[in-house]
Amino acid sequence: MSFLDTFFKKKDDAHALGIDIGSSAIKIVQLRKKNGQAILETYGELSLGPYAGLTVGQAAQLPAEKIAQAVADLMKEKEVNVTTRKCGLSIPFASSLMSVVEMPDVGPEKLKSMVPLEARKYIPVPIQEVMLDWSVIPQVESAPDEEIASGIPALKKTDVLIVAIHNDTIARYQEIVAKAGLEAGFFEIEVFSTQRAVLDEALRPVLIMDMGAASTKLYIVERGIIRASHTVNRGAQDATFALSKSLGVSAEEAEVMKRASGLLNENKSAGEVMSLVLDYVWSETQTTLLAFEKKHNKPVAKILMVGGGASLKGILELAKENFKMDVALGLPFNKVSAPAFLENILRETGPEFAVSIGLALRKLAEEE
Ligand SMILES: Nc1ncnc2c1ncn2[C@@H]1O[C@H](COP(=O)(O)OP(=O)(O)OP(=O)(O)O)[C@@H](O)[C@H]1O
Ligand SMILES: [Mg+2]
Repeated sequence: MSFLDTFFKKKDDAHALGIDIGSSAIKIVQLRKKNGQAILETYGELSLGPYAGLTVGQAAQLPAEKIAQAVADLMKEKEVNVTTRKCGLSIPFASSLMSVVEMPDVGPEKLKSMVPLEARKYIPVPIQEVMLDWSVIPQVESAPDEEIASGIPALKKTDVLIVAIHNDTIARYQEIVAKAGLEAGFFEIEVFSTQRAVLDEALRPVLIMDMGAASTKLYIVERGIIRASHTVNRGAQDATFALSKSLGVSAEEAEVMKRASGLLNENKSAGEVMSLVLDYVWSETQTTLLAFEKKHNKPVAKILMVGGGASLKGILELAKENFKMDVALGLPFNKVSAPAFLENILRETGPEFAVSIGLALRKLAEEE
């Protein structure tokens, strides 16, 4: 290396991993920053079912040790070839408690001491057992009704989103990080990662539908804030179970069939049994939409589908037909640069990687 090479050697590009430990599969994405752009370096996924004696696509409950082993296995895979350990990890939505609380608008310093006191009222476990985080919800400027009526300025209020995660959950993730040899910069509740990956600067409310293996998470978000949420007790594995039962084939075979042709299976009854599972998800989604619209007196503009279930062939068309509104698949890989020849495959597998891409994007931004 010449003197000039050393002299002009640019700082190494930043690299970052996003690691999403879902109930049925771990998803990992590695990004690199070059000239201010996030570039996709590698990505991969590993099913957890087989680590628990179950099949691919099924949700598994595993101890931290086994999860750490699976993360290490995935990072080692030749096709994945991860080269950094710097990462952000997601925490399942179900392991968090969130409340929107109205508080006096006293500024960030005072809120810091008030939030833990206020949180006691909303969190059903002792406050020392949880880690608290919070953020002020930006207000749309308008004078309160009482102020207009009386002419006297009312004490200004502000909405604060309070998030609590149990210490046991944090400890579990710290154990995974240590055992898998990771350097974790943060833990983030998955819904925030998903939003970063699939939302644009949308001001109007959007419903994000994350269809995982055992459940489907619904979040209505508006300007970055979760306004409503609901978890439906059905997911993509229920489509496999229904298929396996109705056709009398093993869960493994049903999973392969489901992924190969989805709702477009030439055996019409195969598509029909899977649609029945989806009908339940649609109806719960409809209820969530209506409850929001009634409470806030405004419509949800769009539904965005993410999670492995959103890759089921034909699901988007079925959802469009059912909801009669704007429905689209989340395309998280659109937020990163990738080789053109990957375009199709990234569009198809994209929905499943929403959380991991959102995590990697945040970690990459924090690396600078
Ligand atoms: N191409 C596909 N067609 C149909 N279903 C698919 C496809 N790819 C994955 N799935 C299904 O998606 C599910 C996994 O989705 P995902 O990885 O989003 O779940 P998860 O993150 O593990 O779950 P959760 O978020 O609930 O913890 C599995 O049940 C799998 O069968
Ligand atoms: Mg998931």
